[in-house]
Formats: sequence, C-alpha cells, structure tokens
Amino acid sequence: MEKIPVSEITPEQLYLSRRQFIVGASALAASAFLSACGVATPAASPQRAQPTSEAKQGSDDLGDKLTPYETITHYNNFYEFSLGKEEVASLAQNFKTNPWTIQVGGLVNKPRAFGMDDLLKFTQEERIYRLRCVEAWSMVIPWMGFPLSKLLAQVEPQSNAKYVRFQTLLDPKQMPGQNDAYFKWPYVEGLRLDEAMHDLTILATGLYGKPLPPQDGAPIRLVVPWKYGFKGVKSIVKIDLVEEMPKSFWMISAPNEYGFYANVNPDVSHPRWSQASERRIGEFARRKTLMFNGYGDQVAQLYTGMDLRKNF
Ligand code: MTE
Repeated sequence: MEKIPVSEITPEQLYLSRRQFIVGASALAASAFLSACGVATPAASPQRAQPTSEAKQGSDDLGDKLTPYETITHYNNFYEFSLGKEEVASLAQNFKTNPWTIQVGGLVNKPRAFGMDDLLKFTQEERIYRLRCVEAWSMVIPWMGFPLSKLLAQVEPQSNAKYVRFQTLLDPKQMPGQNDAYFKWPYVEGLRLDEAMHDLTILATGLYGKPLPPQDGAPIRLVVPWKYGFKGVKSIVKIDLVEEMPKSFWMISAPNEYGFYANVNPDVSHPRWSQASERRIGEFARRKTLMFNGYGDQVAQLYTGMDLRKNF
C-alpha cells in the first residue's frame, strides 16, 4: 500500500484502518481463545477470520462506498445556521453543546431529563446508513448511536401515546438562521410511535467513530434511514410522546409539498421535481432511488394497507 504522509491522512482513512485493526484483533483474540480450549478449527485461524465485507470495504449493506468525512461534515442542511450547505460548518463551529440535556415527557409514566452522560450510557453501536435528502442528493454515513426505543422504554409511554414529537434547540443568539421570521422556529419533527420504536431508528451521537460535529446535529440527532433526510432532526432538546400527529417544521413551512410520513418513494414526485433518481455526492451519474431508500424488507410492513400517495 502506498505510504501517505501523516499530515494528509483523513479521518476516514484513520477510521477504516482502525476498523480493520479492531476486527482483526478480535478475530485473533477469538482464535487464541478457541485454540487455548483445544478446539481450534480452520474457521478460527487468523487467516480465515476475515473482517466482514462491509468493514473491509467501508461500505453499506448494498456495497455502496462510505461518503468521505470531509463531505459529510461540509455539505449540510441545517437552516438554523444557513440555507447555504457549504457554509453551515464554519457558521456552526462555535455552537455550544456542553452541557446538554434532552427533556423527555408528555404521555409517559416516568418523564425525565437525560444529560449527555446518561445518553452515552446506552451502548453506542455503529450503523452505516444511506441518507437520502429530499433535494435528491444522497450520502452513505457511518453513524454511532443507539436505538431510540431504548430511551423510550425508560420513560414508559402510556397507552394513549400515538406519536413522538422532537424539537431542536431554540437559541437565535447562537443560531443566526432562527432570526429568519419566514420559518416557524424551533425545528420540529415527528414519528408514529411504531416508527420510533423500530430498530432502524436511532439517536446518533457520532460519525466515523468521532463525536458528532455541530453542523451534523451535535450533540445528538435523529436518524431514520428509510425517510427523507429532513426527518433527521438535529441538536434535539425535547422529546414528547403525544396523542395527535405533530405538525413538523416542513409541514408548516410548505404544507402542499411536505407530508408527515416522508418515506423515500421513487414513485411519488415532489410537486416541483421527480424523486425517481438521486445524485450520490461525489458521483457524477445519477442513480435510481430505491423504495424506502432500500430498507423496504425491514419497514414496508409498517405501512400495510396505507395509500402512500396520499400519506406522503
Ligand atoms: N434539523 C434541523 N434542526 N434543522 C435543519 O435544517 N435539515 C434536515 C435534517 N435535520 C435540518 C435538520 C435535512 S433537510 C437534512 S437532508 C439533514 O438534516 C441533513 O443532515 P446532514 O447535514 O448531517 O447531512
């Protein structure tokens, strides 16, 4: 392999080599353990114990390559800072994310505030997900985080809770975009309770094995990979269990363009453009958009019997 000067090593190179190291090291540990027990098998030998193909290639479950760290952190939609995707990173660099608390309440038996220390106690796992923005660009992102269902279980939703409502921090002093009176702040999003409880739905605290940078929604944001990226509300301070379907930021801003569900669906056009294809950032040719962003096997049953043209 070509030697790269340390100064030029990018976070994703570090990350990928560290991943290979970790996978390789655990394979070695496993094989040592097995041979110490006297049951070494060919499958347990270090040569045969390869990293998973995903880890090896730095790709998602469809074999799509990870988007570089630099791109994920310098091409951002975060209207609280700017409508210009390439300037969010610099405008957000001094955003204060410590201390931080999320207030979880509404129709629950045990409302409570979670500090970041509490939230980082949930086992953080890596999830490589495709992010498909409603504007028809996409990325592949290695998030760190934990299933939202773990947090919801701790507060015990009541039986009349049907939806979950999420809210971003409101702080126009730090977030200049919130002085724009055209929009109704703070940014709010919602999920049906069964969507929120689905194992694919996570609260992300990091990417590429590092804490989330401000522009990507530090210190904690939602990620729902089968929905358009705007459901992934950033910098969350409040989560409420509610009975009525919440009105999201985009439903309020452009009611004829954005519905509550926002499932990625190549067959339902946005009123102003087709959703049939997308451009993966870093690629030239467009690619076909997949139903439910390629996660249909896991989530299609959530929508059995629903007309997804009406419930867009
Ligand atoms: N959350 C808040 N609070 N404000 C926003 O403007 N933009 C959304 C979503 N979450 C947004 C937000 C949109 S449209 C997308 S595509 C994703 O964040 C982009 O996430 P990324 O910058 O990490 O790629």
